[in-house]
Amino acid sequence: MRDSILVTGGAGFIGSNFVLSWLAGESASVVNLDLLTYAGNPASLASVDGDPRYRLVRGDIDDANLVRSLLRDHRPRAIVHFAAESHVDRSIASPDAFIRTNVHGTFVLLDQARAYWSELTEADRRNFRFLHVSTDEVYGSLGPADPAFSETTPYAPNSPYAASKAGSDHLVRAYQHTFGLPTLTTNCSNNYGPYQFPEKLIPLMILNALEGKPLPVYGDGKNVRDWLFVEDHCSAIGAVLAGGRVGATYNIGGASERANLDVVTLVCDLVDEMAGPLASGPRRKLITFVADRPGHDRRYAIDATKISGELGWKPAQQFESGLRKTVRWYLDHPDWVRDVRTGAYLEWIAKNYTERTTL
Ligand code: NAD
Ligand code: DAU
Repeated sequence: MRDSILVTGGAGFIGSNFVLSWLAGESASVVNLDLLTYAGNPASLASVDGDPRYRLVRGDIDDANLVRSLLRDHRPRAIVHFAAESHVDRSIASPDAFIRTNVHGTFVLLDQARAYWSELTEADRRNFRFLHVSTDEVYGSLGPADPAFSETTPYAPNSPYAASKAGSDHLVRAYQHTFGLPTLTTNCSNNYGPYQFPEKLIPLMILNALEGKPLPVYGDGKNVRDWLFVEDHCSAIGAVLAGGRVGATYNIGGASERANLDVVTLVCDLVDEMAGPLASGPRRKLITFVADRPGHDRRYAIDATKISGELGWKPAQQFESGLRKTVRWYLDHPDWVRDVRTGAYLEWIAKNYTERTTL
């Protein structure tokens, strides 16, 4: 094996943050296998373009020949698997790509990893890791008084996205149990921060607020998410990769439960403060309640006792300071924003919001 890792989906939101922090803090080189779908953006990694330890390969995790040749040529000591279709609303509009990439793509990656791993020396086999990045959505929805999701909460995925991620988690578990592949799985709550594609709640609201556009809140706005700053997710993945027990799963969360309406209101206030007020008044007035997401999970919350107890990980960022940093980042990166809002982005916004009735 070489001192390198294979990252999948490294041009997406969390993947690009992970690659940047990895190259800043570790010596091992990174091969980034990314299909560059609408959500993949090499511009997020422009700062490491000339780094000899970084290489982007445009390709599909579902392409067994490509994955085989990458593993043969680069001989990584780990695979960190981010690549996925990740947006719940898109999984409701068109689930096919979610099944293909999240379920079948993960199967192809696991199968090629097993073939590669089984031919390593005994010492290298012991050191190799396959880290699968998953989500808390596999556990379904909590009631207001329910305890937070732990690693033993039964799976109850509710959206096609969540079901496809649950399927991928089960495949990872099976490859460890049946073949002994040294896997690790992380199930994380909602991330926010720099480089997030503006189809997701926080960046969508920041950019709409900046431009004085309506802020579409689904249903009554009381759905709760447990927010984690993306750099804290990346540090948790690093900790699990370095010290996680083979075959284990780790829940990752920020202990920052917030109702959507509270998040959007805070975004409005931060944009008013940093960009100056609109002539029409405070941006809170832009909040518009629209038709709910079908099957909308009411509440997510993560119990991160296991990762903090076993690996000493805890988040560094509070939600309010992390959100402030995030709003600042979007205001300071108009070029990045302009480049991701291409024709495909505009088509999605028209499809998801123009057809959604106002409540
Ligand atoms: P993203 O949509 O921003 O990025 C996904 C990346 O995967 C993109 O770069 C895309 O081009 C790439 N990709 C898609 N299909 C591919 C394929 N077939 N082959 C190769 N590359 C492909 O997603 P994200 O928000 O960065 O999420 C990354 C991972 O973390 C996902 O597995 C997601 O389920 C998980 N996750 C996300 C969150 C969150 O809040 N965003 C929380 C918990 C877990
Ligand atoms: O919990 C982890 C998951 O978090 C990840 O696995 C997913 O990849 C990620 O997309 C995210 O899923 P959510 O559905 O929670 O995130 P999203 O940003 O799409 O929505 C957050 C909440 O805001 C949710 O309750 C729906 C609501 N919402 C979203 C959008 C886009 C709105 O009210 N209006 C909107 O326009």
